Amino acid sequence: MNIVLMGLPGAGKGTQADKIVEKYAIPHISTGDMFRAAMKDGTELGLQAKSFIDQGALVPDEVTIGIVRERLAKHDCEKGFLLDGFPRTVPQAEALDSILADLGKAVEHTINIQVEKDELVARLSGRRICKTCGTSYHLIFNPPAEEGKCDKDGGELYTRADDNPETVANRLEVNMKQAQPLLDYYEVKGVLKNIDGQQDINKVFADLDALLQSSRS
Ligand code: AP5
Repeated sequence: MNIVLMGLPGAGKGTQADKIVEKYAIPHISTGDMFRAAMKDGTELGLQAKSFIDQGALVPDEVTIGIVRERLAKHDCEKGFLLDGFPRTVPQAEALDSILADLGKAVEHTINIQVEKDELVARLSGRRICKTCGTSYHLIFNPPAEEGKCDKDGGELYTRADDNPETVANRLEVNMKQAQPLLDYYEVKGVLKNIDGQQDINKVFADLDALLQSSRS
């Protein structure tokens, strides 16, 4: 099962990706997570990405495409993968087609999670993330059982550096500009599926899962 999950910042890609990869036992490939891990480790990739991420800008296509190319060639992607937050531009989508063709693979599900802008702002401003396992919570919409602690492993919850109001505004603007041409790219190919992301988290997952299941039968 090869899945591409798209959506604007805060649409719920990470939240839904966690549920999908748990159910289907495929790797979760999030370019945002890869950049944040590299930033934490202080690698050259991390240093390169930091200046863009801190401003809410996109990391240049050639850098992003390079890390995805490497990741998709790994053994654990043989039975499938879920791409979260990639592609985000038309050149990335074209590169993905070519990477997969080289590997003898293709995307089976191209899914866009739709959420209104005001809701995205509210979600990003209340998001908290576990320092240990990366699970995403929301102070109001999806709170942990115990304030400040992860339900899964008790890890401390923190606010992502790029979830401050100025960076959020820029992230949304930058991503909205890229989103339509990208959606058009997949629409023209006739493969785009939209999901209503403005519902309860479990309902969104039920819709996503029904979509994944329907194309299996
Ligand atoms: P990335 O980490 O991918 O961030 P993003 O796209 O901005 O998306 P988010 O992770 O913020 O949101 P999400 O959709 O995963 O939402 P979540 O599930 O957490 O990228 C970060 C940066 O890296 C980019 O800005 C860019 O600089 C760079 N980058 C990454 N990929 C790149 C690429 N391909 N090209 C170039 N640069 C790239 O949910 C958000 C909140 O809402 C949570 O609090 C959650 O609990 C809550 N929530 C989720 N679903 C619901 C629901 N249904 N109802 C109510 N609340 C909900």
